[in-house]
Amino acid sequence: MDLSVALGSLTLPNPLIAASGCFGYGVEYGDVVDLSTLGGVAVKGLFLAAREGHPPQRIVETPAGMLNAIGLQGIGVHRFIRERLPELRDRRAIVFVNICGTTLDEYVELARILSDADGVAALELNISCPNIKEGGITFGCSLTGTYEVVSAVRKVTTLPVIPKLTPNVTDVASFARAAEEAGADAVSLVNTFLAMAIDVETRRPRLSNIVGGLSGPAIRPIAVRMVYECRQTVRIPIIGMGGISSAADALEFMIAGATAVQVGTANFVDPLIWTKLLGGIQSYMERHNLTTLSDLTGSLDISAREKEWISS
Ligand SMILES: Cc1cc2nc3c(=O)[nH]c(=O)nc-3n(C[C@H](O)[C@H](O)[C@H](O)COP(=O)(O)O)c2cc1C
Repeated sequence: MDLSVALGSLTLPNPLIAASGCFGYGVEYGDVVDLSTLGGVAVKGLFLAAREGHPPQRIVETPAGMLNAIGLQGIGVHRFIRERLPELRDRRAIVFVNICGTTLDEYVELARILSDADGVAALELNISCPNIKEGGITFGCSLTGTYEVVSAVRKVTTLPVIPKLTPNVTDVASFARAAEEAGADAVSLVNTFLAMAIDVETRRPRLSNIVGGLSGPAIRPIAVRMVYECRQTVRIPIIGMGGISSAADALEFMIAGATAVQVGTANFVDPLIWTKLLGGIQSYMERHNLTTLSDLTGSLDISAREKEWISS
């Protein structure tokens, strides 16, 4: 049974990647999860410099999901390379470094620095964080911004470039197309949905940042639809995510068009979820006589009439 999947030149042993911000820098889980058995580890978003993030309250539970406004707390790229990357390398993790900038130059500088570091498999460009005022989502919500940041990073690195798209736009597929035209090797989607929760007794926002990003099972059907739409529009591989907490959820994204998937919020519920997901995918392959998992990508069975109805 072949569970490997290809993201352009990068081959993963299986499609399950830990989502950025939900798995620390990977090393924190090294003693409980064999990082080499994962398809990859997308580390917490990194800026050039360290950041404190927002004050508490930064996380709120919501029906079938969670709302966060961490504010991209992080140790900065230089400490990451010195203090975390060597252990990730020793543990044979496939490392996706999630990078964030307030300016285009910052993304370019991060890409340059990480291209010289040993042990980075791919760059995931976070142009979609809804919780910070500056940078990031400003690029991700503009087609020209998306095109410019991807092409600028593309010019300075040979690493796979994977922009992470925001769902907080009307037509996500046009952003995937802009990314593809700018030279992206793949796209990942979705980041969290801009959302809000209020304590009615105090009439105060539940998050210190007032608004935050919604993740978890609540967003899954919307994320699946967005992956499906992108699959109709671009040829580059798609990494799908949003509320995956079972093998069936992961398979749903693949059938909609994802080559690989990321798992975020579910890891907070069960950090040992990976063996369950992988086992479930294997038994699905057995039941469906699949020898290669990649055959599943984009295999949604719909008639021409259904397709016409969807696009009209
Ligand atoms: C607490 C938290 C922190 C996150 N931090 C980042 C981040 O640093 N960079 C990023 O691109 N996405 C970040 N995300 C978004 C996730 O990687 C993922 O796109 C989103 O949560 C949807 O997947 P899920 O429903 O499986 O969690 C974060 C999500 C959560 C819940």
